[in-house]
Amino acid sequence: MIAGIIGGTGQMGRFFAGVFQTAGWETVVSGRRTELTNRDVAEMADLVLVSVPIRATAEVIREIAPLLSEDQVFCDLTSLKVEPVRAMLASRAEVIGLHPMFGPGVASLRGQTIVATPARCSQETLDTLLSVFREQGAEITISTPEDHDRMMAVIQGLTHFVTLAKAEAIRRTGTDIAESLHFTSPIYRIEMGLVGRILAQDAGLYGDILQMNPAVPEVLARFEEAVLALREIVESGDADRFQEFFAANAAHYASYLVSATEETDDLINHVVSGR
Ligand SMILES: NC(=O)c1ccc[n+]([C@@H]2O[C@H](COP(=O)([O-])OP(=O)(O)OC[C@H]3O[C@@H](n4cnc5c(N)ncnc54)[C@H](OP(=O)(O)O)[C@@H]3O)[C@@H](O)[C@H]2O)c1
Repeated sequence: MIAGIIGGTGQMGRFFAGVFQTAGWETVVSGRRTELTNRDVAEMADLVLVSVPIRATAEVIREIAPLLSEDQVFCDLTSLKVEPVRAMLASRAEVIGLHPMFGPGVASLRGQTIVATPARCSQETLDTLLSVFREQGAEITISTPEDHDRMMAVIQGLTHFVTLAKAEAIRRTGTDIAESLHFTSPIYRIEMGLVGRILAQDAGLYGDILQMNPAVPEVLARFEEAVLALREIVESGDADRFQEFFAANAAHYASYLVSATEETDDLINHVVSGR
């Protein structure tokens, strides 16, 4: 079997080429400067996997979709699923959207989650593909493109927005980061670690995740309301209102509070012991 990876010179493309090679597949790759073109790869491969930046994905899929036959499988790794899956369905191929919920720095698939959104394929094709990932230790979550993108608006969109908004707010306070770390508590260090981690990476992926998911503005509107409501309660100085706000949220998260505390205790102990 041949896996053809379009964007196979990029970070995730290289990682998944390794995954298919480990599973005994032959791989062929294209980038913008490779000898093989996207079209060559689309014509050679049994399974075509698109792994290009989110903004370029629909165009690249549209370029190769007419070349694919019903005997081929069309997949992508895009962090959003509605638009790429819709574009892949314009081909005659079997279509399975994928979103790895990790970055290219992981050592292997062990313990990592991949969301799969099968859109047009036989059970056999789906099982064959997913067994490549499962046999290397990945967990698979099956979803639809729509549910995936709504979930990602919270899981990635809101999370990255809050982290970046916090970075900007701290910058606006004029706080010196190095100096602040001398006053650090373990939680501040972990949260600043997340700020530093995102800012050390390429802006493009985060911009695309925030700007290209149509479900993000709705989630950000709820966040803005929450910020204004909480700010008003804080500035009111009214302890009862703060208790009420806190209790409403503790009730909403009730089933998660014990495991959240245990997991973050582990993280804190790790941070403290590493200093
Ligand atoms: N990075 C992550 O943490 C992560 C996690 C989950 C999912 N993803 C998804 O994985 C996909 C790829 O992300 P990445 O981080 O691997 O990006 P990347 O490192 O920037 O790689 C992008 C690849 O796409 C190629 N490319 C760009 N425009 C192209 C075009 N028009 N035609 C053909 N190839 C083109 C680049 O080729 P050149 O060699 O010519 O530059 C490169 O090989 C994205 O859809 C992203 O949403 C990323």
